[in-house]
Amino acid sequence: MTLKSYAKINLGLRILHKRPDGYHDLETIFHEINLWDEIEFSPSPRIEIHVQPQGLPSDENNLCHKAAQLLRTQCNIASGVSIKLVKQIPVGAGLGGGSSNAATVLRGLRKFWKVALTDDDLLKLGAQIGSDVPFFIKGGSAYATGRGEQLEPLSLRLPFWIVTATPKVHVSTPWAYTALRWNETRRPLPLKARWHPLPTREELRELLRNDFEPVVFGAYPAIADLHRQYMEMGAAAVALSGSGSTMYGLFENEIKAVEARNRLAGDAATSFTEPEFSAERT
Ligand code: C5P
Repeated sequence: MTLKSYAKINLGLRILHKRPDGYHDLETIFHEINLWDEIEFSPSPRIEIHVQPQGLPSDENNLCHKAAQLLRTQCNIASGVSIKLVKQIPVGAGLGGGSSNAATVLRGLRKFWKVALTDDDLLKLGAQIGSDVPFFIKGGSAYATGRGEQLEPLSLRLPFWIVTATPKVHVSTPWAYTALRWNETRRPLPLKARWHPLPTREELRELLRNDFEPVVFGAYPAIADLHRQYMEMGAAAVALSGSGSTMYGLFENEIKAVEARNRLAGDAATSFTEPEFSAERT
């Protein structure tokens, strides 16, 4: 059995409040894009993970391993599984690759081990693995609050070409949260109410603003420079995804989007998503 594990971008990200447990309450829209890893499940007496290309962590710190271990313990499963993960989503890039993989392992193993768990059960297990994991259980588009795990599905068919560019720098998410030194409390906008009718270019740029941008652009000039390049190439709006390092541009015009992807592909890993994209799920 093989499943696709899709990446996401964040359409806007607002930090609302630093919580006593160290996490931050936030507001964002998660939106799946046309970029995926493949995960293949086959029988094995124990849990083993094989990652391609080689060199990426496949030990117990791999979120696929954590997800398989958690489900096996939770459901008292005696058998194991061999998981082959073929990566295309850049790692540590703000595209949710590791979280998506963990969610896909939970969905895949529910079938593979034939366990009677609902999507809600998987959402709860996912939240134990990471803040972004629950979104990928159902995928699509969702308005998220809390630490990212409180979700409201959105039917959001964007009329834009989406081009992502991930430069060869890694931004640590815990570092980015610490660098914010967040000490205020804000109310949600809320982001979800602003999409119908479609925002103007100016409104769109304001909506997609990500609170990590000032600290990440300050520390990583290569990421800030991507913002300038996208604007020069005619993007309707540009923003950082998650805590970076990926920047994405929304384009109203296919030719400009293709040109941007081709130019950015020299120095960055890129992806391309057509308007109204919706990921296929099995
Ligand atoms: O939940 P996850 O393991 O993905 O989070 C990684 C780190 O990012 C956390 O340990 C925390 O420092 C920070 N974080 C946060 N607020 C969130 C999500 C993550 O402070 N909403």
